[in-house]
Amino acid sequence: MALSVSYMLRLVHIALLFGLCFAADPFVNFELELSYITVSPLGVPQQVIAVNGTFPGPTFNVTTNDNVVVNVNNKLDENLLITWPGVQMRRASWQDGVLGTNCPIPPNWNWTYQFQVKDQIGSFFYFPSLNLQRAAGGFGSFIITNRKIIPLPFSTPDGDINIMIGDWYTRNHTALRTDLDAGKDLGMPDGVLINGKGPYRYNTTLVPDGIDYETINVDPGKTYRIRVHNVGVSTCLNFRIQNHNLLLAETEGYYTSQQNYTSLDIHVGQSYSFLVTMDQNASSDYYIVASARFVNQSLWQSVTGVAVLHYSNSKGKAAGSLPDPPNDVYDTSFSLNQAMSIRQNVSASGARPNPQGSFHYGSINVTDVYMLRSLPPVVIDGKLRATFNGISFVNPDTPIRLADKFNVQGAYKLDFPSQPLTGPPRTDRSVINATYKGFIEVILQNNDTVVQSFHMDGYSFFVVGMAYGEWTENNRNSYNKWDAIFRSTTQVFPGGWTAILVSLDNVGVWNLRAENLDRWYLGQETYMRIINPHEDNTTELDAPNNVLYCGALASMQKPQKTSTSASTVSGQPKLSLVLLMVLSAAISIL
Ligand SMILES: *[C@@H]1O[C@H](CO)[C@@H](O)[C@H](O)[C@H]1NC(C)=O
Ligand SMILES: *[C@@H]1O[C@H](CO)[C@@H](O)[C@H](O)[C@H]1NC(C)=O
Ligand SMILES: *[C@@H]1O[C@H](CO)[C@@H](O)[C@H](O)[C@H]1NC(C)=O
Ligand SMILES: *[C@@H]1O[C@H](CO)[C@@H](O)[C@H](O)[C@H]1NC(C)=O
Ligand SMILES: *[C@@H]1O[C@H](CO)[C@@H](O)[C@H](O)[C@H]1NC(C)=O
Ligand SMILES: *[C@@H]1O[C@H](CO)[C@@H](O)[C@H](O)[C@H]1NC(C)=O
Ligand SMILES: *[C@@H]1O[C@H](CO)[C@@H](O)[C@H](O)[C@H]1NC(C)=O
Ligand SMILES: *[C@@H]1O[C@H](CO)[C@@H](O)[C@H](O)[C@H]1NC(C)=O
Ligand SMILES: *[C@@H]1O[C@H](CO)[C@@H](O)[C@H](O)[C@H]1NC(C)=O
Ligand SMILES: *[C@@H]1O[C@H](CO)[C@@H](O)[C@H](O)[C@H]1NC(C)=O
Ligand SMILES: *[C@@H]1O[C@H](CO)[C@@H](O)[C@H](O)[C@H]1NC(C)=O
Ligand SMILES: *[C@@H]1O[C@H](CO)[C@@H](O)[C@H](O)[C@H]1NC(C)=O
Repeated sequence: MALSVSYMLRLVHIALLFGLCFAADPFVNFELELSYITVSPLGVPQQVIAVNGTFPGPTFNVTTNDNVVVNVNNKLDENLLITWPGVQMRRASWQDGVLGTNCPIPPNWNWTYQFQVKDQIGSFFYFPSLNLQRAAGGFGSFIITNRKIIPLPFSTPDGDINIMIGDWYTRNHTALRTDLDAGKDLGMPDGVLINGKGPYRYNTTLVPDGIDYETINVDPGKTYRIRVHNVGVSTCLNFRIQNHNLLLAETEGYYTSQQNYTSLDIHVGQSYSFLVTMDQNASSDYYIVASARFVNQSLWQSVTGVAVLHYSNSKGKAAGSLPDPPNDVYDTSFSLNQAMSIRQNVSASGARPNPQGSFHYGSINVTDVYMLRSLPPVVIDGKLRATFNGISFVNPDTPIRLADKFNVQGAYKLDFPSQPLTGPPRTDRSVINATYKGFIEVILQNNDTVVQSFHMDGYSFFVVGMAYGEWTENNRNSYNKWDAIFRSTTQVFPGGWTAILVSLDNVGVWNLRAENLDRWYLGQETYMRIINPHEDNTTELDAPNNVLYCGALASMQKPQKTSTSASTVSGQPKLSLVLLMVLSAAISIL
């Protein structure tokens, strides 16, 4: 299980000292170092990306409204950015950690993120956003705990367990990149990891000897909140625990209406909390399984993650066959119906002491409609590329808002089409010119051959509809207009569509992407640029003092002393000094 991060420092903030309006919310500080370590999760030694020496990385456990300060040290041999999907970075796309909003952190540099987890609760994870690095690790859970004054919509669990599942290749991220650059498909993964470990040897033919597997220790009769994140490359995984019901309680920051599932399909990038009661007789341990979906089960048998649920009074090892996956060969709608059965608990308190509510989103008039169509990868100018609406995105050399701030012309184009282009596909720097305070409908039409995960940074959206076939206006009649789940990553089935509604109240530039790493790497992403026409620093924070410069603004970047003498970093206000000032001010007030 991942380590729990302890706060280095936690104190009441004196707003004046920073000159920012973060109010009197606590600051929590973290120090992270990303580096390579060698491990053998599937029995083959390979270099993976560790965070502070661990794989997966440490768990962040912060509280609603905390101001989170994370100093990220890049000890890799390539550029780095950490992104925090689902964490809304309100007014601060400067902190989002994707190439359209941040210059990358070069090797041996460090960069300090600072953002507030304003009005948020729930289960998320962080990961390195560049160049397929997530396929090599660098991820960990990011938990936002509710404030004590806000009631949970369930009894306080007896424990909190994080499980990171994901498909895995024994080739490292640079080798995977080489394959994609050569126009090849990544092919079948070599396995599924659970918390960075390979499968328990449930079958001596399929699983080699000597693989370290994950064991989750529990006590009989207790109920645990089990948070499951799919951190993988591209495979949807069916998650299940032998003989145990999964009572779904939360997904990506919103409480759900509570329903039992024997298994749930978890798509790449998605996070869920289940309440699981240890109500079995412990005649043996139980299997925890994450198996590949929407692929040929007989070919992909060895691509199955298996961990062990061990009761403290267990009488023996888990044995026999794994619990069955859904038997839906003849029912292509099974998974889709399951997805649409996930509803928001509109009467529970969320981050605030009042119901999450539906805000009557179903009766708000839509201001703009966008269709985003994905097609299978195609060759454009001799390179394999993936597209939305016929455009394969090329990252600007100068991040978008930085280009705006310093009037860099031509860094990007505001011409992303709201409908698929009919001409030949092309690569471009096109972003969406979205309207502040608009209420938009986005139809994700998946004409690719694989199930996709779609993610939007900076926002949560209502997942109002999902079906097979080509979307038509008539489909609006079938939208869930009352208790659709509000989340930030949704699946889109091949040959099908998913419709989402989004209220554009967060100023900045926000990434929209295929969460499937290969498609994302090949250009299946864009950004929404949302600007308050009466701009002031109450709707969007100014660039932070430590903002990195690159591209057309590279000459503005002050050098950073690498490694050894981190204390002599030039140019930026010293964070530790500021904190000392805050601390002494706090003490003098006390
Ligand atoms: C916001 O703008 C006002 C007026 O220009 C300025 O006084 C204030 O310092 C700014 N606040 C921040 C957080 O930049
Ligand atoms: C990745 O794998 C390639 C080929 O196996 C190897 O040359 C390279 O050193 C590895 N890189 C890292 C960072 O592990
Ligand atoms: C990570 O490692 C750094 C340096 O070794 C240490 O100062 C910090 O406390 C660690 N952070 C966490 C979250 O464990
Ligand atoms: C997070 O911290 C809170 C106390 O602030 C604690 O009650 C909770 O169990 C912790 N959760 C995790 C996942 O560590
Ligand atoms: C790098 O880390 C040091 C502390 O180790 C900090 O003072 C400095 O602000 C950081 N640099 C950036 C650009 O965040
Ligand atoms: C192990 O897997 C192989 C290959 O699928 C299968 O033939 C065999 O029956 C399995 N063994 C057990 C004990 O389930
Ligand atoms: C879920 O299943 C458990 C047994 O595992 C049962 O006690 C509980 O009542 C069920 N809850 C719902 C909402 O169906
Ligand atoms: C425990 O439960 C299993 C599965 O439900 C059952 O087969 C077994 O007989 C039970 N054992 C005892 C000791 O109750
Ligand atoms: C799955 O793969 C096996 C082995 O190649 C093949 O025999 C079978 O027809 C495939 N099943 C489907 C549904 O494609
Ligand atoms: C939505 O649009 C309809 C017709 O265009 C209009 O009658 C209605 O007042 C609008 N509703 C809201 C909430 O603006
Ligand atoms: C972006 O949209 C706004 C209206 O929302 C419009 O005024 C502006 O001209 C558009 N910009 C471009 C470059 O199309
Ligand atoms: C996209 O898929 C739909 C539904 O399967 C199909 O009707 C349509 O022709 C496809 N369009 C393209 C451009 O491939």
